[in-house]
Amino acid sequence: MSLKTIEWKNNKLVMIDQTKLPTELVYVEYSDYHQVANAIKTLVVRGAPAIGVSGAFGMALAAINNDAKTKEELIDQLEKAHKTLLETRPTAVNLGWALDKIMLIAKEHNDISEIKKSVVEAAQKMAEDDVKTNMKMGQNGSILFEENDTIMTHCNAGALATVAYGTALGVIRATKESGKKIKVIATETRPVQQGSRLTAFELKHDGIDVDLIPDTAVGYTMANGLVNKVIVGADRILRTGHVFNKIGTYQIATIAKRHDIPFFVAAPLSTFDLKSNPEDVIIEQRKASEVTTIGEKKTAPDGVGVINPAFDMTPPELITGIITEAGVANPPYEESIKKLFEANK
Ligand code: MRU
Repeated sequence: MSLKTIEWKNNKLVMIDQTKLPTELVYVEYSDYHQVANAIKTLVVRGAPAIGVSGAFGMALAAINNDAKTKEELIDQLEKAHKTLLETRPTAVNLGWALDKIMLIAKEHNDISEIKKSVVEAAQKMAEDDVKTNMKMGQNGSILFEENDTIMTHCNAGALATVAYGTALGVIRATKESGKKIKVIATETRPVQQGSRLTAFELKHDGIDVDLIPDTAVGYTMANGLVNKVIVGADRILRTGHVFNKIGTYQIATIAKRHDIPFFVAAPLSTFDLKSNPEDVIIEQRKASEVTTIGEKKTAPDGVGVINPAFDMTPPELITGIITEAGVANPPYEESIKKLFEANK
């Protein structure tokens, strides 16, 4: 079984501290939603589905560690927790999806103890469903990959970005489990290095063949026939098929198109935002020190200006297919995404 990133144990949230990987596999325990908000902000937990589920457990902590005497008071406290958790990271849409779902469930009940119980149960169910969704997505995607494929992936869209199993890496896992021999090329993914620290760690941990490349070697590996498919995760997908994902995804998709290499995206339906237009999406800008240092070491002159967007947008014309738990959407995406949601009502 893949790593378990998020667990609910004895009314506490237990998560792998991803800032310590790959050198240490350390679990941290939280009993207060403010701690969870801080963990999301500081990338202790990251990746769209994992952020969503940890946010839901943040709401569960806010509900149980609360001495509200009336329903109104408790709902008010939960609204506060919702706001604090939602403000942690702006781009991945799963966080808002999960927090809204929990809020709706809380409001359905009148009794305080019923509200608390239902919120905890809803968060637990969300965590269980995340694994089932990933496994279904894996099955749906695995038929698109063949024996001896070398598959490039970017950032980390694996067990560590979800509760377990993963989205893009879930498809890779399912392809391997179906008996096909495959290889993975992971990009290092500067500046936070989710590719080298997390994807390479996770795949090695699970015995999947992986080579690491610097981000700057994407063109070389594609031009020299070392890659024949790409799969990435997503933080937000619009109804038009525009995909927001870790910075660098757009340039990989562009080079893949030039070399006729199929470029797939794997994400659950909870990653889709059917309302926004591309220009509405806030791209998170992260701190300059992620770019001016590598580890503890300074690698840029003091005072240099830095542009550090965490995500970019890949347009639909560069994407071969979007793999979900409800099936695979193919171009034209406006039509196929609509159909997936209609069939899944
Ligand atoms: O900034 P992060 O580490 O939270 O980045 C998000 C991601 O892990 C990726 O963009 C990923 O490919 C999509 S989430 C499965």
